[in-house]
Amino acid sequence: MELELRGITKKFPGVVANDDVNLKLATGEVLALIGENGAGKSTLMSILYGMYRPDGGTITLDGKEVTFNSPADAIAAGIGMVHQHFMLVPNFTVAENVVLGVEPTGRFGSLDIDEARKMVREISDRYSLELDPDAVIEELPVGVQQRVEIVKVCCETPKWWCSMSRPRCSRRKRSSNSLRSCEH
Ligand SMILES: Nc1ncnc2c1ncn2[C@@H]1O[C@H](COP(=O)(O)OP(=O)(O)O)[C@@H](O)[C@H]1O
Ligand SMILES: [Mg+2]
Repeated sequence: MELELRGITKKFPGVVANDDVNLKLATGEVLALIGENGAGKSTLMSILYGMYRPDGGTITLDGKEVTFNSPADAIAAGIGMVHQHFMLVPNFTVAENVVLGVEPTGRFGSLDIDEARKMVREISDRYSLELDPDAVIEELPVGVQQRVEIVKVCCETPKWWCSMSRPRCSRRKRSSNSLRSCEH
């Protein structure tokens, strides 16, 4: 499988964030996008995830051009995104956050929270993430919150996985170490 961005251009008022960017990835390949603050990394990833529409350029998956009008389109095409700035709902539990958007529903379409808990436990055990499905997000250290974001993307079973660096505000050694260990 192959993912290609060709000639991607994105302008904001007074600044060209992405200027004719080309990038190609094959399945199994790991690519690090490195650049100083303001270089346009987040903008490019936001375009790949359907959060912004590019002013020019194309995205192709296996040679087929795709248009993402929303993150839902990108997720459906197999793109997963671990956000740098958390998109979690602070007063929801880990399980509730993980299944937002991919809710397993029980009878009458109600949220099957037991199934959600099970999904979190399974993924957490498989990757030794030590997540409590019933913990409330705002009570967790930032490194643990990042692991929740990772589990959330796992549940979407993406083919292409984008991870937006580690949290900027993570200055605590313990939480950044625990985050590093789960990135391997
Ligand atoms: N939503 C936005 N509105 C206006 N300007 C933006 C917006 N997002 C990013 N920019 C600008 O685009 C440029 C690239 O930003 P960004 O993609 O966030 O860079 P990076 O992630 O590499 O630090 C910067 O000059 C930034 O100020
Ligand atoms: Mg950025």
